[in-house]
Amino acid sequence: MKLLRGLPLISCVAFGAAATEPAYIFSNPPESERAGYKIPTPYESAVQGRRLLALTTLGTLATVFPDDSSSKKRDDVSSQENRPTGMGGMPHGLMEYVADCEDEGNPTMLAINVETSFKNARAGSNISLAMQWAPPYPPNKRIKSYYPSFLDYFLGGSEEAGNSKEKVPYSAANLPRFSVLGYIENVEPEKTADMAACFVKAHPDAKYWLPGNRIHESEFVRLVVQQVYWIGGFGDRAYIGWLPVNDWKNITRKEIEEIKLPGEKKGWNEWSIRDWVEL
Ligand SMILES: *[C@@H]1O[C@H](CO)[C@@H](O)[C@H](O)[C@H]1NC(C)=O
Ligand SMILES: *[C@@H]1O[C@H](CO)[C@@H](O)[C@H](O)[C@H]1NC(C)=O
Repeated sequence: MKLLRGLPLISCVAFGAAATEPAYIFSNPPESERAGYKIPTPYESAVQGRRLLALTTLGTLATVFPDDSSSKKRDDVSSQENRPTGMGGMPHGLMEYVADCEDEGNPTMLAINVETSFKNARAGSNISLAMQWAPPYPPNKRIKSYYPSFLDYFLGGSEEAGNSKEKVPYSAANLPRFSVLGYIENVEPEKTADMAACFVKAHPDAKYWLPGNRIHESEFVRLVVQQVYWIGGFGDRAYIGWLPVNDWKNITRKEIEEIKLPGEKKGWNEWSIRDWVEL
């Protein structure tokens, strides 16, 4: 019974994959337009990126450790946190709570003074914040990472999305992500109440370490974006490269609300170039 059900699926999958297999993955094709690829423009990609920022609340914040010698209070600071010596220049990436609380695409974070990332930032480190799109729904139709064998069908291997034992139930390589690069600056104190309201909406537990709490000294900061590096997905259907930062900052809420990212709604097909392009 399994075999009978499996046979047509196998041929169907093989044909489907051959027709839509990505031709360019981590780069865009040369002369995309002439080659017949329809790839979102850098501007359209910036709108997608701003929507990703608006909908995503976790990122990986990367900073660089200061030189031991440049840290005058080394003994106070480093011995307290038991930091090894000779870390100057080492990069350091950690998960950080992020919210999109201002209008210019500068991510908002709640800096805890004892946190290593923000110590590095205060010591003058430039920073990079990486964020990726995690669709709320798995796709109905998946890119297969392998061609199913007859054995899979005898052993009960299944074609359908959702039955997958993969830890990530979609092709993350074919979904948007970015890294914004720049520096950290304090948000003006008069904006603290607005920032707190916005931030707690994205992160209810952050109410315990808002500025003025009794446990940790904290303050709202913004990442002042100076550059944006974007990978929209596979290179034959998404833009890969640097985005114009003026566009990034100038994009309106209306533009952000008018598009959807892949998998925001149920029933999407991660192979579909069409869905992705007609945003
Ligand atoms: C931060 O980046 C700028 C370039 O944008 C560079 O001039 C500066 O030296 C960097 N700062 C540190 C502490 O590396
Ligand atoms: C910013 O956006 C507005 C409206 O969308 C547009 O008229 C203006 O030219 C843009 N400015 C820049 C610097 O791109």
